[in-house]
Amino acid sequence: MKKIKISIIGLGFVGLSLAVVNANLGNKTTGIEIDKEKLDGIANGKPDFYEPDVEKLLRNSLKKKTISFTNKFESILDTDITFVTVGTPSDKNGKIDLKNFKKAIFQLSETLKKKKSQHVVVIKSTVIPTTTSEIVLPIFKKNSNVIVNVNPEFLREGRAINDLKYPHLIVIGSKQKNEHKILKEYYKQFYQKLPEIIETDFTTAEMIKYSNNIFLATKISFINSIANICQKLPSVDVNQIAHAIGRDPRIGAQFLQAGPGFGGSCLPKDLSAMINFSKKFGSPNQLLEAVEKINKSQPKQILQILEDLKLKNNKMAISILGLSFKKDTDDIRESVSIKLVNKLLKKNFKINVHDPMAIENFEKIYKNKINYYKKISDCIKDTDCCIILTDWKEYTELKPEIFSKNMRTKNIIDARRVLDPRKFNKLNYRAIGLG
Ligand code: UGA
Repeated sequence: MKKIKISIIGLGFVGLSLAVVNANLGNKTTGIEIDKEKLDGIANGKPDFYEPDVEKLLRNSLKKKTISFTNKFESILDTDITFVTVGTPSDKNGKIDLKNFKKAIFQLSETLKKKKSQHVVVIKSTVIPTTTSEIVLPIFKKNSNVIVNVNPEFLREGRAINDLKYPHLIVIGSKQKNEHKILKEYYKQFYQKLPEIIETDFTTAEMIKYSNNIFLATKISFINSIANICQKLPSVDVNQIAHAIGRDPRIGAQFLQAGPGFGGSCLPKDLSAMINFSKKFGSPNQLLEAVEKINKSQPKQILQILEDLKLKNNKMAISILGLSFKKDTDDIRESVSIKLVNKLLKKNFKINVHDPMAIENFEKIYKNKINYYKKISDCIKDTDCCIILTDWKEYTELKPEIFSKNMRTKNIIDARRVLDPRKFNKLNYRAIGLG
């Protein structure tokens, strides 16, 4: 079979990762982005976000001329499959905002009216169940040459390229049984070893995506609830509990890392969208609401520890290590660091911050209200409490001496459990989930 040509609409971390991996396989790839500034940056080899290896692969494919970028939808006419990876953020009520998504689908439908041969439109954006059958399909009503598939993705920020190359599963939702064939063929060309493929209808595929993320969120809120009990029990450490229960194959070891709560652009948004969606069917979904409530109150654990330290707010300085919502990304969306800094500013603490990647994004919000540092030792210098908020590798390697030499008062709150408590027993080391 001839090589399948793809186009991708929306160049966030999902769309751009797919584009550069596909192009690096030597396949002609077209990326479409309507944000001019973003588009120009990418076309010049400079994405507007950090994702490991993406920039390298992008520059490589630009050099090999296997990739091109445009804001013109017409360029999809020369391709066989269009992946829609437009962002679907939350609106202010926690519902999913489909404005940009719908705009892209409308434009796609208009453009595809100019094409005679078959074209596959793949919905990769996370959309609330029934969106494809009730909103997308009606828009394509007059496009008899268009096949629609729902193909949710499970990429993690910071691991996108790896997750794309080695997925645990591919889900393809379609209207008719044989309508997944072209996309399946594409994946056969993409993967040397084809992962398991589950074929479903549209709504099941959409529901799989939400259920997956919500289950992960549930695991985190569960272990955080356990952590909060452990913290009250002398000598009990939630990490030992997580390790032990994680060995039970029915539970599994991943996503049992206690901490300040989950953030990012996906888990909080998908959880609140599903809470809203489930209200349509009558009574509220109690489990999902509890998962969200626990997550929202988890940062209070840090404030409680801080209060126990009895620091005099307006004379004391706090250093924060880690601003991004997790390691290996510069993304600060829904990051606990924002909630915490807001609270600490209200209490009049002087605040110093460090992050290997996210300083620039943080500066856009807080400007000169807080102090930014490139070196960890400078950030913690003369501060009275250091709070570790993100699990960056450089923080896991910190030795007690850096704190004892630089800090004014040697209080450490390890909200991510990146340090070994046994090595820090000469300092006032406190941690989430450690009694
Ligand atoms: C999540 C899912 O993991 C991906 O499978 C999915 O494709 C993606 O959302 C999406 O819908 O696009 P991501 O938001 O990149 O990926 O981040 P995660 O690795 O899931 O972490 C989310 C948050 O949970 C982070 O704040 C992280 O620090 C926290 N977390 C994670 C914990 O607090 N404990 C854990 O054990 C694991």
